[in-house]
Amino acid sequence: MSRPAILVARYVLPELLDRLSQHFEVESNQADQLLSPSELIARLQGKRGAFITANEKIDAALLDACPDLRAVCTMAVGYNNIDLAACTARGIAVSNTPDVLTESTADFGFALMMAAARRVTESERFLRAGQWTHWTYGLMNGVDVHGATLGIFGMGRIGQAIARRGALGFGMKVIYHNRSRLSPDIEAPLGARWVDKDTLLREADHLVLVVPYSPAVHHAIGAAELARMKPTATLTNIARGGVVDDAALVDALRAQRIAAAALDVFEGEPKLHPGLLGLPNTVLTPHIASATGATRKAMADLAADNLIAILTGGTPPTVLNPEVLQR
Ligand code: DGY
Repeated sequence: MSRPAILVARYVLPELLDRLSQHFEVESNQADQLLSPSELIARLQGKRGAFITANEKIDAALLDACPDLRAVCTMAVGYNNIDLAACTARGIAVSNTPDVLTESTADFGFALMMAAARRVTESERFLRAGQWTHWTYGLMNGVDVHGATLGIFGMGRIGQAIARRGALGFGMKVIYHNRSRLSPDIEAPLGARWVDKDTLLREADHLVLVVPYSPAVHHAIGAAELARMKPTATLTNIARGGVVDDAALVDALRAQRIAAAALDVFEGEPKLHPGLLGLPNTVLTPHIASATGATRKAMADLAADNLIAILTGGTPPTVLNPEVLQR
């Protein structure tokens, strides 16, 4: 029997390609070119599996053009680039990579929040530009992290990991807003308190966004929400572009309605709202919150585990629509 054909849409470690080649006819993209939608469709012809990242869009039009597809496995926890309902309707299994990136992503979210609060990148730019000539009382004064109120919007695995860092490492008071309240055994060790969104905005000294993107949270942080935050507050976004209205954020930062923002994700990335680049009170990074060597490998391995299991009749560890496997 011929082996199923798959596409690995982006670079992966060569040993992972070797492993996949034991099960599949593999077409790879080790040159790591970002494929346009039409190139992706062309490369997926005759393929039963797609190993993708958060950058490849899998929508109904692509699925209609790729009728052999049975598995879409992304090496990302977020899957807003995949039309899950359209995949399910066509009997295509979809998987993502939760858990393996939780701690690395939380580390980075915390680092961004600290960098914004203590003006780390702003002061480094100042120093490198030769502007440090003498000590002054107010030189790069920021706002404290320890003992402050940490507000978390989206208290899933990563949100909870950030809360642990804040509560247990920095003595922060943790408040969070989530669709549903967590059980007391999760809340209690963190001293975490569920609050409505308005209270979150008003009380947080440092607001961190970790909510998965869906149309329901599009521009969840816009001009009205930013206006409710403290003028000394920081905003960190490691969720997805589109959760924040970047144009409204630029206005708020320019007017110093909040102190600073740290952003790893942007509307329309890799393009940025041009206003962000010129603002001193922003920390800007290129969507790298989960980017450590060990975590990237764990993500890719988990995506491969899912792909192999789906296409060989096994039990995929983190499939999002297990119902299609019962059919
Ligand atoms: C994720 O896993 O969703 C990260 O944002 C990387 O894309």
